[in-house]
Amino acid sequence: MLAISVSNRQQMLRVERDQITQVSDEADQFSGTMFTVAVLLAIGSLVLVRTSARQQHDLFQAQERAERHQVAYQQMSNSIPVGFYTYRQGQFAYTNRWWDDQLRRDPDEPAMKAMQRGLLQEEFDELTRGLNSLQDGLTEFEMRFHLSTPDEGTRIYETRALPIFSEEGAYEHALGYILDVTQRESSRRQLEAKTREVQNKNALLSQAFADLESNFDAMVRSLVKAIEAKDPYTAGHSERVMDYSIRIGEKLGLDPHQMKILQKGTLIHDIGKIGVPDAILTKPDKLTEEEYDLIKLHPTIGANMVREIPLFEECVPIIMWHHERLNGSGYPDRLAGDDVPLLVRIAAIADTYDAMTSDRAYRRGLDHAEALRRLRKDAEDGILDERIVEVLADIMVEDGKLTRNSESMAA
Ligand SMILES: [Fe+2]
Repeated sequence: MLAISVSNRQQMLRVERDQITQVSDEADQFSGTMFTVAVLLAIGSLVLVRTSARQQHDLFQAQERAERHQVAYQQMSNSIPVGFYTYRQGQFAYTNRWWDDQLRRDPDEPAMKAMQRGLLQEEFDELTRGLNSLQDGLTEFEMRFHLSTPDEGTRIYETRALPIFSEEGAYEHALGYILDVTQRESSRRQLEAKTREVQNKNALLSQAFADLESNFDAMVRSLVKAIEAKDPYTAGHSERVMDYSIRIGEKLGLDPHQMKILQKGTLIHDIGKIGVPDAILTKPDKLTEEEYDLIKLHPTIGANMVREIPLFEECVPIIMWHHERLNGSGYPDRLAGDDVPLLVRIAAIADTYDAMTSDRAYRRGLDHAEALRRLRKDAEDGILDERIVEVLADIMVEDGKLTRNSESMAA
């Protein structure tokens, strides 16, 4: 019995020992796990603390950089002669120092109040209206306004403002700059005044030149009349040659400059006759060869008379060559073909036509149909320009000197 109970007791003790050993093992395991967790947590915390410190450092640096930029921006915006402002929710939120100086704004005075005080009421209203419109979708706003200063009088400014949006695209505020354009405006006005002055002077000069030209024309006409008066049979010849030539030139589409040369040149084409003795010019009988040679000098005399006068120098070819013919049979230079300029060809035909149809001391003038027939014959023989003869034929029909029928008869 005792042996059983001892054996039982030993058995119980063994069971208890095993249980204790198991519990102890489990406790060891648990505390090991806890330790591991604790270490991991500690490492984790350390990592977290370190990460958070770095972030904070970076943030601090970024803030510092932003502040430095802000200071640099403010220094810049205060040191250049340009105004800057922001306009937010109907108020001027910021104005830079330069603009504050222009406004004579005290540091305590609100920017909005200073702006309203400085600007003319209607310009202030226009400005705020424009800036408010930027919030409503206007993409940019600009205007010009004035500021009265006690010592510098009224100055002129130009402003331009743009809307600023957040990254999400929401409207934030308007950002604008202001330039002092007083000097530029005054230079522009001076330039305009100067331009007007020059224009006025030019107009006066043009008028004076036109007067001079018209006086000169009148003088030349008198001179031409005086020469023609030497021979009553040639009275009005030069003006008629000029009229025919102008009408031919118009029909040929000459430009205004060419027309002017044609007009002046044909009026004075015979001016050299002033150097030919009256007795020869008015001689009713046939001229001797020597007398005819003297007559043939008149183009050269005339050209030499006007060569040095700037108003007439371009007319020299008409005066010099109006007796030249396309086949080289004319005088004084026996020009031929393309060497005879167009204006000279016109003058030659107008001159020949008027000479043919006017009475002379020694003969009656031809009728127009006969004159045209002879001109056409000369054109056919290569003496006169055919195209110009036909233009003249049209003019004769227009003037009623020929009917279309008699004109075709003369062909
Ligand atoms: Fe002549």
